[in-house]
Amino acid sequence: MKAVILAAGKATRLRPVTLTMPKALVPVANKTLIGYAIDVLKGAGFTDIGIVVNELESPIPQTLKDGAGMGVHLQYILQEEQLGLAHAVSLCQPFVGDEPFCVFLGDNIFQDKMSELFSQFMNSDAQSAIALGEVSDPTRFGIAELNADSTIARVVEKPKEPKSNLAIAGVYLFRKSIFDAISRIKPSWRNELEITDAIQTLVNDGQRVDSYTLKGWWIDAGKPDAIVLANQLVLEDLPYTPALEDKAQIIGKSEVSHRVILGANSQIIDSVVRGPVIIGNNTIIKNSYIGPYTALGDNVTVEGSEIEASIVMQNCVIRNIPGRIDSSLLADNAQVVVAQRMPTTHRFVLAENSYVQL
Ligand code: DAU
Repeated sequence: MKAVILAAGKATRLRPVTLTMPKALVPVANKTLIGYAIDVLKGAGFTDIGIVVNELESPIPQTLKDGAGMGVHLQYILQEEQLGLAHAVSLCQPFVGDEPFCVFLGDNIFQDKMSELFSQFMNSDAQSAIALGEVSDPTRFGIAELNADSTIARVVEKPKEPKSNLAIAGVYLFRKSIFDAISRIKPSWRNELEITDAIQTLVNDGQRVDSYTLKGWWIDAGKPDAIVLANQLVLEDLPYTPALEDKAQIIGKSEVSHRVILGANSQIIDSVVRGPVIIGNNTIIKNSYIGPYTALGDNVTVEGSEIEASIVMQNCVIRNIPGRIDSSLLADNAQVVVAQRMPTTHRFVLAENSYVQL
């Protein structure tokens, strides 16, 4: 059975981070979002994975290559225009052939490994099975209504008046019947070919569509707050690791708690680090406090500052910031520093949709 990951969206809600980096490559606890999708699929036995991208010569293929480094075999499927999830799925037909297959939305991250969803579908005669999770804001999702036997009675994309709070959570199993269903749907009010409408077509045809209720947390990591929350939830699951003591890396009057992962050539100098925290390679923390749920990428410098519950990507500099930085997202090469000379002005170089709170 093959799987496809849909990662061709424009990710406008995550700008400015996604102006230079596709959402799928945004790091959560120092691993790309799409890396989590690949892990779930690999864990369920999928090793042939197609990734739908909007350009073949682009950062996702350039970073993940043929997948050999992750123990999977990746192929890239081009969707030049983002005409909707159903359109993206239809482009996968040559890749999946006539076999059952899994569709995974590349910006969703799950605690659940969902092995039951995959095994039950393979042993059933359902034409589709979808993962569902409870949400508090059902107007933002595809919403499902269930029959008494938990099969799908109805699915509606982003309903104005939701009949349930059970959201379609971005993992779908299909058989080849979905391609015929997709060929019969029309674009929605948001001018997209919705996979939700194709699933409803299967239901209207009298086909069985199964549901699977997710265990644990699930995040649609489409917005900065959601990415920061996903980072906290993943770090919360870090297993116990004893406090680090290596004198080459923990220097001076430093205090490092358990559940701190420190990369190669990184140093903690006269600083306090309280886990769960993950720190990449070649990162320097000096005279600083790094609080729980923080992920610092490679080649980061944090000096004379306090930060917690935040994501700091590669090559960032944070220096001499008064007060504590909290729940923040800094993309590659960002610098937050205090003026070293008078006048001590605020000075900003911000991309579209940047957010500064002083
Ligand atoms: O997150 C769960 C929700 O995802 C479901 O509840 C909805 O039923 C489903 O339609 C979807 O809604 P979103 O509006 O959140 O989808 P989004 O546009 O963010 O796209 C999800 C992923 O699919 C994202 O990684 C980009 C990719 N994509 C999207 C479109 C529209 C494509 O690869 N091609 C596309 O044409």
